[in-house]
Amino acid sequence: MAQPVRLGVIGFGNVGKAFARMLLARQTELKSLGLRFVITGIFTARHGHVIDRKGIDLQRALAAGNLWEIRRRGSAIAGLEFVRTCPADILVEVSSLNPFNGEPALGYVKEALARSLSVVTANKGPIAYAYPRLVELAARHHCRILFESTVLDGCPLFSLVRETLPTTHIIGFRGILNSTSNLVLQKIEEGMSMKRAIAYAQEIGIAETNASYDLDGYDAQLKTSILVQVLLGERLTPSQITRGGIGHLSESEIRAAARRGRHYHLVSTARRKSGGVDASVEVHLLPRTDRLSLISGTSNGIILETDTLQTLTISEENPGPDQTAYGVLADCIRLSGSLPKARSKE
Ligand SMILES: NC(=O)c1ccc[n+]([C@@H]2O[C@H](COP(=O)([O-])OP(=O)(O)OC[C@H]3O[C@@H](n4cnc5c(N)ncnc54)[C@H](OP(=O)(O)O)[C@@H]3O)[C@@H](O)[C@H]2O)c1
Repeated sequence: MAQPVRLGVIGFGNVGKAFARMLLARQTELKSLGLRFVITGIFTARHGHVIDRKGIDLQRALAAGNLWEIRRRGSAIAGLEFVRTCPADILVEVSSLNPFNGEPALGYVKEALARSLSVVTANKGPIAYAYPRLVELAARHHCRILFESTVLDGCPLFSLVRETLPTTHIIGFRGILNSTSNLVLQKIEEGMSMKRAIAYAQEIGIAETNASYDLDGYDAQLKTSILVQVLLGERLTPSQITRGGIGHLSESEIRAAARRGRHYHLVSTARRKSGGVDASVEVHLLPRTDRLSLISGTSNGIILETDTLQTLTISEENPGPDQTAYGVLADCIRLSGSLPKARSKE
């Protein structure tokens, strides 16, 4: 039997639970890759934590209301202590977004890398605020950090550019990156109130823990910052990116525009200029002829401008937590090939 890859998970909400369900559902496929993932610890903010070096019973964890229901002993610990004590090879960080400085997730990620644990995260905060530092920290401690699900949910964007576009320069991009805003706009066009549309986005698990981070453009601003840093290689922090949101639009103006065949979208844009990059997140009224206007509901997508393939459009139809969880799983699989170095340190 394959040696297990041990995962410590921070955050057991929509994405954390979808990830646990996916591990259960994909055991045969993982086995055929010679892989066996075992979750040895789960930490949450208000629903307790559990550590079990033999592997947590995920069915029980998913069924439990709180994690302390399945914990045999031990008292409450802080997140950093969890990272220090959980016996793991990879830290899976899927806790809530803090769009202002990425904490406390950034601290968890730094602590894990300093312990030579590789990290997989769907949390934009740490990457947007500290991408170069985290990559450098990982290199210093012979481990890696992957973050496919931070942008376009599980859609393989970073891995596609990294692994399939050698020598290509990304010159710029336009994209619809925030599913919640896109869905809310479409639901309002269909006659729903903004309040009800936001509640619907929360019900299906795609909204941030605090939905104003979606509607006011923070989520898209962080994603834009990540894309600029990773794909365009320019250090542009979130605050250097102009941020707009959909909150100021009235229901009547959204519906009136739709009747005229035009649709409001929250669009992220970045383009190289001499000496840097210009980037923004703004509400645009798009005509039907614009490819981005085809991206509706929870779908998201991006048009990359490259110096090899000209424009390349990537979109994902109606993603939710399952697709984000798939991106996390795919990153864990990618990392598992490079784990022995990290494991030999324990
Ligand atoms: N939902 C999506 O479709 C999606 C898509 C792409 C990326 N993401 C990202 O994935 C992450 C998780 O999203 P989600 O939808 O799963 O959120 P969620 O359902 O609100 O769950 C968040 C989890 O994080 C835990 N948490 C909150 N604050 C914490 C802290 N300070 N320390 C440790 N744990 C903490 C929560 O604990 P409690 O259970 O005790 O509240 C909960 O278990 C977010 O960073 C989000 O931006 C989500």
